[in-house]
This record gives sequence, C-alpha cells and structure tokens, in this order.
Amino acid sequence: MIIVTAASGQLGRLVIAELLQRVPAERIVAAVRDPGKVADLADQGVLVRHADYTDPAALDAAFEGASKVLLISSNDLGNRVPQHRNVIDAAARAKVGLLAYTSVLHADRSTLGLAAEHRATEDAVRASGLPYSLLRNGWYVENYTVSLGGAVAHGALAGGAGEGRIAAAARADYAAAAAVVLAGEGPKQQVYELAGDTAFTLAELAAEVSRQTGKPIPFHNLAQQEYAELLVNVGLPKPLAELIADADAQAAKGALFDDRRALSQLIGRPTVTLAAAVRAALN
Ligand SMILES: NC(=O)c1ccc[n+]([C@@H]2O[C@H](COP(=O)([O-])OP(=O)(O)OC[C@H]3O[C@@H](n4cnc5c(N)ncnc54)[C@H](OP(=O)(O)O)[C@@H]3O)[C@@H](O)[C@H]2O)c1
Repeated sequence: MIIVTAASGQLGRLVIAELLQRVPAERIVAAVRDPGKVADLADQGVLVRHADYTDPAALDAAFEGASKVLLISSNDLGNRVPQHRNVIDAAARAKVGLLAYTSVLHADRSTLGLAAEHRATEDAVRASGLPYSLLRNGWYVENYTVSLGGAVAHGALAGGAGEGRIAAAARADYAAAAAVVLAGEGPKQQVYELAGDTAFTLAELAAEVSRQTGKPIPFHNLAQQEYAELLVNVGLPKPLAELIADADAQAAKGALFDDRRALSQLIGRPTVTLAAAVRAALN
C-alpha cells in the first residue's frame, strides 16, 4: 500500500491523481484528518483512512499494511516538527519500505525562515533508520499566481523579491515527482532538489501578466517590513505574512533559485512554464 498523508490538501490531491495513473487505486491510501473531504477519492477506489498528525494511534491504524508513505508537510506553521515526528515514528513502527517527505529546496543551507522546521524533520527522517527520499520542493508558482487577480485589479504587482530569480514550479510538477518516486523502485536515501526549469524575477512575472492582459502591470518592490504590512492589510494572519515577506527577502538573495533541472528529469517532461501558469491563473 502507498500511503499519502494530507491527501485532502492541494498538493496531496494532485499526488493521488498522478498515482492513479501509475498504480491500481486499491493500492493507494489517502490518509486524511477529515475523510468527508475526500469522498470523491473513495468513489475512485482509493482507500480513505483517518490520520491526524497529532494522533499517533490513528497514524498506526492508517499505516497498517503500508509499504511506502509520503509525508506531506503540515501547514500548521510552528507546530510542524512534533506533528511530523509522530508520522515518522508511525512509519518506523510500520517498518515501511520507503518514507518520502516534502521538504524545502536546499533545506540544509536554506536561509528561509520556514526551512528550520524542514531541517528538523529531515533529521528525524534520517534518524528513523528507514529507507527515505527527501523531496526538496522549491516554491510553488501558485504562491504568486494566486493573487494575480488582485494585481490586475490594482494595476500593479507588489512583492519583495527584488531582482531575485525564482525557480518556481507548479504544484502539479511537484506532485508528479512524488508519484514517480512512490510508484517506482528507484534508489533509496535520495535527496531531490526540485525546482522549475526556468527561473523568473517578479518583474518578469508582472511583464507576463501585462502581455496576457494587455494592461500595464508594473512590479513594485517593497522592503520586507512594508511587504509584510501590505499582506496583513489584505487579510493574511501576521505570522504567515511575515513568513511570506521573509521568503521574498531571501529570494532576493537567491534562496529560491536552482538551475539543475532535477525536477523535469525526474518527471520526464518540462515543468509548467511561467506563461502557462499565468494563463491558468487568469482564466
Ligand atoms: N513549496 C511551497 O511553495 C509551499 C507553499 C505552501 C505550503 N507548502 C507546504 O506544502 C504542504 C502542502 O501544500 P498544499 O498546497 O497542499 O497545502 P494545503 O492545501 O494547505 O494542504 C495542507 C494539508 O495539510 C493537512 N494537515 C494540516 N494539519 C494536519 C494534521 N494535524 N493532520 C493531518 N493533516 C493535516 C491539511 O488537512 P485538512 O484538509 O484537514 O486541513 C491539508 O490536507 C503545506 O502543508 C506546506 O507545508 C509549500
């Protein structure tokens, strides 16, 4: 059985869709804290099991018969390490043949504030003694395209990444990579630095939006604090706004750049282009 945790999330759902193209549905388990959210997956023959990262007993039950587990990182920022440890410990008790974890690009040296929780989780994965794959996912291009409607409405794109080049890829690209690793029998103890084929600056993103909409959309670069305040003003919780502003500030210094193309090599196709991602977001 291949277990995918957080299968109700945006990435988890895409991983399940990719797995369904590679292995029979009855070999796939969607492990979620609210099974009601994934009734559609059960309709497709996927096994749905209850699994909350804070509930070790539920994790043990969810991992029964597991050969491989994908731990998708929690979105509960600041509380993730103990939650992830629970999942890793349950995978160890189930003696799975592969534990894959969605980490962050260049986790060992990343200057992103959110990288600390990923580093601690990677350490726990290694300490588990299990065969593992570390899927060090770069930035989702959707982190930027999700707010393009607002940028078009306001006639400008704001951010804090300056001239930094961002090798973002689509969630669908990272999901395909996870499915390839889970469905295959590739080498273990692997670290994959996963990023988009082509990096862009936020000014280039704004230029692409201008090209596709026919409206001038300039990029306004903001200082880290100023950008965090803007994000709070548009409704983001302060800790999240600060993490995003930190990520942009680090991206300005190259923290989200990678040009090794390991992601497209793994999935056997180019990653989604910036133009395609912008088109998908605007339509
Ligand atoms: N690389 C990037 O650019 C980037 C950007 C954002 C996030 N991330 C990370 O990547 C992860 C996946 O991304 P995403 O877009 O799929 O995020 P998402 O749509 O927010 O999904 C988060 C998932 O985590 C699950 N979850 C949260 N707490 C849990 C718990 N205690 N027990 C079990 N499941 C729990 C949620 O379950 P419910 O459906 O029950 O809420 C949901 O399925 C995120 O959680 C975050 O760690 C990466």
